[in-house]
Amino acid sequence: MESFYIVGGNKLEGEVEIDSAKNSLLPILAGSILIDGEIVIENVPKYSDVLAMCKILEHLGAKTKFIKGKFKNEDLYVDCRDISNCDVPNELSCKVRSSIFTLGSILGRKEIAKVAFPGGCDIGLRPIDIHISALKHLGCKIVDKNGYIYANASKKRSQDVMLSFPSVGATENVMMFAVLNDGETRIFNPAREPEIVDLQNFLNCAGADIKGAGSNVIVINGVKKLHSCTYRPISDRIEAGTFLIAGAMCGRELVLKNVISKHNQELISKLLKTTCKIEAYDDNIIIKGNGRPQSFGEVETAVYPGFPTDLQAQMFALASISEGYSLIIETLFESRYKHIGELIKMGCDIKFKNGVCIINGKEKIHGAEVDTPDLRGGASLVLAGLVAEGYTTVNNIQLIDRGYYKFEDKLSLLGADIKRIKYEKKVDNCN
Ligand code: UD1
Repeated sequence: MESFYIVGGNKLEGEVEIDSAKNSLLPILAGSILIDGEIVIENVPKYSDVLAMCKILEHLGAKTKFIKGKFKNEDLYVDCRDISNCDVPNELSCKVRSSIFTLGSILGRKEIAKVAFPGGCDIGLRPIDIHISALKHLGCKIVDKNGYIYANASKKRSQDVMLSFPSVGATENVMMFAVLNDGETRIFNPAREPEIVDLQNFLNCAGADIKGAGSNVIVINGVKKLHSCTYRPISDRIEAGTFLIAGAMCGRELVLKNVISKHNQELISKLLKTTCKIEAYDDNIIIKGNGRPQSFGEVETAVYPGFPTDLQAQMFALASISEGYSLIIETLFESRYKHIGELIKMGCDIKFKNGVCIINGKEKIHGAEVDTPDLRGGASLVLAGLVAEGYTTVNNIQLIDRGYYKFEDKLSLLGADIKRIKYEKKVDNCN
């Protein structure tokens, strides 16, 4: 097991370059299954979720390799011309939730698929009923048996499909399924996240005909074949958001490079309620901390353009040291509160009543040994560790590696005292 060992109290200062978006890369990799050609995805950080997705592609018959490019991170070369398998086994799908995206693209390319139910972070039930009912509506025969989804699209058809909820994954799955179908498919009530627009742009770069991503209707006109392309994904608004929250908590002056400021508008409007100063330009943001933050008031998570659920946990760390009370309400994932118990171990004052979390900010919190509950919950514990008195050990950081690349190196360069250590947890017999 690896852990982060953090000595709290340092102020952060300097420049940090934000990496390409994990939540763009994963559907883009699934989308590459549709492409009868070679693709190069530029500037790809080695998130463990991306490496897990590459393993799935290789199992299907694709070739993947990291190659030197012109950006900070290497490019990822993917060749899906020889896709031969149509199944994603449990031992691969349990590593990454986005394995479910391969259902739409394998079906789109091969008309038959067997995909194990997905794994990923434990933040709630995470059903896939909206994916399944939309694909069925488009003519797929789907049954689930022994943990596998068996699907056949030999009678697929293009037509309008209405999602009962704007699920990000379901929108992406349907987009990918429809790309190679004859005729026009329209998705009503799709998710509008920037990563959906990025998937559209990537597939169009490979010859697809998709319009409307980011709006209330996505229109996909089927094409016969997709071709080779080179594509650079957007930057990660959640990584950017995490550094902005760090800036509000303990930043002197942080400059975030390679960001798309408009993707973090909701967060920026909340952070402006604290004492920090923010200058947001098109592709970089400067944040200046200014002593102990004031409470940001209230945050309620929502689908884009609302406040992202993926930044909710990090806001707990900020609220815990802010002056006054803050309220946080999670509306998307029912169990996305597992970081609270760990933050309480660090002296945070958090109560949960009728679906609302009430955080009474304290001037000081203290270090402790804490366990990463999930990817973003882990980031929240790291942020708390940066400002805690004494030292904090954050365990199970392989969950943080799923969506932050070289997190500790970036924080160290900004002045944080954080290192990755091998750690063996002592198990006490509590019976
Ligand atoms: C994606 C993101 C994840 C983010 C989430 C919400 C990726 C790889 N992951 O996850 O980081 O937290 O969007 O912004 O892009 N739901 C159903 N049935 C379904 C599908 C979803 O009930 O078939 C529910 C979920 O349980 C959840 C809500 O819809 O309550 C949102 O889920 P969804 O938008 O699908 O999230 P993901 O695509 O899993």
